[in-house]
Amino acid sequence: MRDEHSQLSGFSAEWLALRAAADRRSRSQPLLAVLRRRVVATPARRLRILDLGAGTGSTLAAVAPLLPRPQQWTLADDEAALLRIAATGRRPSGTSVQTAAVDLADPRALPGLMDGTHVVSASALLDLTSRDWCRRLVRLMARRSGAVLYAALTYDGRIVFDPPEPFDAPLCRLFNRHQRGDKGFGAALGPAAAPELAALAAAAGAAVRTAHSDWRLGAADAALVRPMIRGWAAAAREVAPEQETAITAWAARRTAQAGEGRLRVRIGHRDVLACW
Ligand SMILES: C[S@@+](CC[C@H](N)C(=O)[O-])C[C@H]1O[C@@H](n2cnc3c(N)ncnc32)[C@H](O)[C@@H]1O
Repeated sequence: MRDEHSQLSGFSAEWLALRAAADRRSRSQPLLAVLRRRVVATPARRLRILDLGAGTGSTLAAVAPLLPRPQQWTLADDEAALLRIAATGRRPSGTSVQTAAVDLADPRALPGLMDGTHVVSASALLDLTSRDWCRRLVRLMARRSGAVLYAALTYDGRIVFDPPEPFDAPLCRLFNRHQRGDKGFGAALGPAAAPELAALAAAAGAAVRTAHSDWRLGAADAALVRPMIRGWAAAAREVAPEQETAITAWAARRTAQAGEGRLRVRIGHRDVLACW
């Protein structure tokens, strides 16, 4: 299971479409305003943005309309099928897009991709990566004065259910343990990713801002919540197969509540903006 909240294989376009609306309304607007101010002050004829783990292009869709044009986006992902969708998506005029099908875990990938970019962005990616990978990213960013890193929607380990029940906390602990497994970049930072990235960037001389970008999901979001319940339960079973019965019963109760519009879930995310 590569996606933190999905049981679907890989990161399917269907799953990314399901989460796009929640992502869009959850991004920290104050942080986006700072990003915009910073970019407006950048003396660039054409703004160059590299989006890491771009998927079907939801960062571009959310951020491009806010920034001055012309813009040149490079969307990097190791799933060519997702990039094909991203390449044909709607975008504001004055925005051009190229794609790069690369494994970002390969240490040779980042330097070439980052060459000449003003902004590096990543949404819902950092929690999959490792401490070494974040350190490498920050080191490359810090080499260029004026560089901007916008890392949004990183899962931070908090899942709060309403109504609550006693098995929520054990389930969340099991899921978070799973989040620290290898997701292709070595041992994943999981819920520690956003504070770790912020600390690394500050230590490397960046002005760093962080903000919450929690998903607040309710009755209207059952189509998104149900696969997440399956994903949380599958992850919990992987790390604690001996708790199979309790996990399956919990998932059945929560799925029924979601289907009846009686479940609200808040999922903790953080946005980080680092400016050199
Ligand atoms: C949770 S999705 C987020 C996608 C998109 N940023 C969004 O917000 O909708 C994580 C993305 O990272 C990509 N990814 C994961 N591991 C990767 C790797 N090693 N190299 C390149 N892309 C990777 C996945 O294919 C997926 O598109």
